[in-house]
Amino acid sequence: MSEIKIIDMKPETGEFKKEIIEGLKKNPKEINPKFFYDEKGSMLFEKITETKEYYPTRTERKILEDNIGEICTYFKEGSALFEYGSGGSKKTQIILNHCKQIKAYVPMDISISALQYSSHNIAAMYPSLNVVPMCVDYTKPFKIPFLDLEGNIIAIFLGSSIGNFEPETTSRFLQTCTEMLGPEDGVLVGVDLKKDKQVLEKAYNDSESITAEFNLNLIDRINREFRLNLDKSDFKHVAFYNEKKGRIEMHIEAGRDIILDLDGNKILLKKGERIHTENSYKYDIDEFTSLAVKNHLKVRKIWKDNNNYFALFLIGI
Ligand SMILES: C[S@@+](CC[C@H](N)C(=O)[O-])C[C@H]1O[C@@H](n2cnc3c(N)ncnc32)[C@H](O)[C@@H]1O
Repeated sequence: MSEIKIIDMKPETGEFKKEIIEGLKKNPKEINPKFFYDEKGSMLFEKITETKEYYPTRTERKILEDNIGEICTYFKEGSALFEYGSGGSKKTQIILNHCKQIKAYVPMDISISALQYSSHNIAAMYPSLNVVPMCVDYTKPFKIPFLDLEGNIIAIFLGSSIGNFEPETTSRFLQTCTEMLGPEDGVLVGVDLKKDKQVLEKAYNDSESITAEFNLNLIDRINREFRLNLDKSDFKHVAFYNEKKGRIEMHIEAGRDIILDLDGNKILLKKGERIHTENSYKYDIDEFTSLAVKNHLKVRKIWKDNNNYFALFLIGI
């Protein structure tokens, strides 16, 4: 097997400490969800996708499987598949198994460990595919690699990661994605739909507490990077659906008064105070469509499951 070279833009060099200090100085305190994904966080996310309560992954996989024939028609001969937040590149394999006209795959992720694992795996499974992994923060400007393609580019953004953006940022992000595209190209986005509050809340409070471990892994990461010794049992995972805002919110709650010494920046976390660690916006089909259309993007096709739990939007320019 040929050696896969990761284009490493070192997205987190110096960023973690700076952003943690800035976020914890805010009121209310917050941490960007992109920091969940160190090696352990990436591994825990994969475990979350296997819990019985976490419907998004299996629903999105089923939508892909049920519609793969039609999805493949959007890839021309000699095309490239780009993937934002590729993680384990598992659902990607449904596309690569069926769409043989794809000649290049560009997984993009902030987690170098996830990229190392998944790009070697994909290269071994599809020996004739040109695999060009990029370690990047996709919320910041970056250049895509030159691939000398015969065909078009379809970018995929799966796992409802789009829901981590505020609605205004969502349209800006989609615009940035489509700016790199031509008339034959598109972005396939996985969108988690609004549904029964209980179903939503269970998905983020699984009975094996893996989501709790994923959330509290941030405390381990803070300990490691700031050389602290915080006791994880002093913190609690909190996740609930904020109906008014249409989003799941995840927080870390302090069980007692705690002073964090972040490289000399002393931050008091009061008992019961929360650090906001993630928003996951849920949309109606119409809401997401109008978000795209308002920003002059074309919704070319929507695929969804029978329960209306999840949808895949193919967006062009
Ligand atoms: C919710 S997981 C989804 C993984 C996979 N696409 C799936 O559907 O199962 C989000 C992925 O995006 C990556 N990620 C999160 N924020 C990112 C950022 N700002 N830039 C690049 N990758 C990011 C994480 O490392 C993780 O692999």
